Amino acid sequence: MAPLSTVTRALARPSVLRVAARTISTTPAVRGDSSYSSPFKGESNSTKVPDFSKYLSDKKPSSNALISYFMVGTLGAITAGGAKSTIQEFLVNMSASADVLALAKVEVDLNAIPEGKNVIVKWRGKPVFIRHRTAAEIEEANNINVASLRDPEADSDRVQKPEWLVMLGVCTHLGCVPIGEAGEYGGWFCPCHGSHYDISGRIRKGPAPLNLEIPAYEFPEDDKLVIG
Ligand code: FES
Repeated sequence: MAPLSTVTRALARPSVLRVAARTISTTPAVRGDSSYSSPFKGESNSTKVPDFSKYLSDKKPSSNALISYFMVGTLGAITAGGAKSTIQEFLVNMSASADVLALAKVEVDLNAIPEGKNVIVKWRGKPVFIRHRTAAEIEEANNINVASLRDPEADSDRVQKPEWLVMLGVCTHLGCVPIGEAGEYGGWFCPCHGSHYDISGRIRKGPAPLNLEIPAYEFPEDDKLVIG
């Protein structure tokens, strides 16, 4: 390291002092020192618009309009196509998948259910009672004063074909599964709290407030039932 006296002597020299002063100076450079020259030098109006006339098309205005219409139409068609596929993708994603749809409907072969017998199938996690009713049971279901029922409903309003009674096997009291061919009315009996349903699934006795519910179903063919 240089001794302090040597540094002091060096700083005392005029040339060293000038360099140091230039280095630490914060004064802006004088305008005349700048090498920048404005392209608008001498122009009083700096917003002068350049002349683009040599770029103007020499074709007829109608031919240019045609190209414009074509471009707008093409871009519109592409945009509409993109929007359509986006919406379609969205709807396909939101709709139920094939396995869910399969669970939503249950197909039953009615040839497998003899007259006077019950079958229970599972649909959307719930039991569904299917009863192949006899002529005597159909007559019994109709031979009643509907107005006297707790949940007044004619048998004809509960079936599509009189011989086929289709209803949810869920007690309308607290949701137990009633037992078939039991109870005081020859229909279903819920052992949980003692509700009796008749051969049309209507509540006749006990705490249940409503008849057994009828699900959506159809007969696509004479011997085929689709629930759901
Ligand atoms: S749940 Fe059926 S009678 Fe209560």
